[in-house]
Amino acid sequence: MTWKRICDAAEVPENSVRQFDVDGLSILLVNYGEGFRAVPPICPHMEEPLVESGVVARCILTCTKHLWAWDLKTLELQGETEKPLKTYEVKVENGAVLANIEGELTYEFDTEDDMDDDFFK
Ligand code: FES
Repeated sequence: MTWKRICDAAEVPENSVRQFDVDGLSILLVNYGEGFRAVPPICPHMEEPLVESGVVARCILTCTKHLWAWDLKTLELQGETEKPLKTYEVKVENGAVLANIEGELTYEFDTEDDMDDDFFK
């Protein structure tokens, strides 16, 4: 278990997202009003940077690109969302937000050119 400091809690206001570099790892910190979530910085749908496309309201993070959304309290998928959000464990201690980082969390993306890949095998 490796707890790493991301930032001061006050640096990310309620209902906002902010991207941080933690030891060379990009982490998106989301303040949803009732707590924080630390997640990979890209949307699990089509790799949109959530620092630009992510909005937070009523504890829901929505990627405005195609409206995939997640409840940040329960991590339940909303509407047509097809993939869960991966999260780093977070805690707030002495006014700082820390994340438990064992390694980089990533998503698998379908490649549309599977045929081409097979061709070259
Ligand atoms: S890229 Fe985020 S919903 Fe499609």
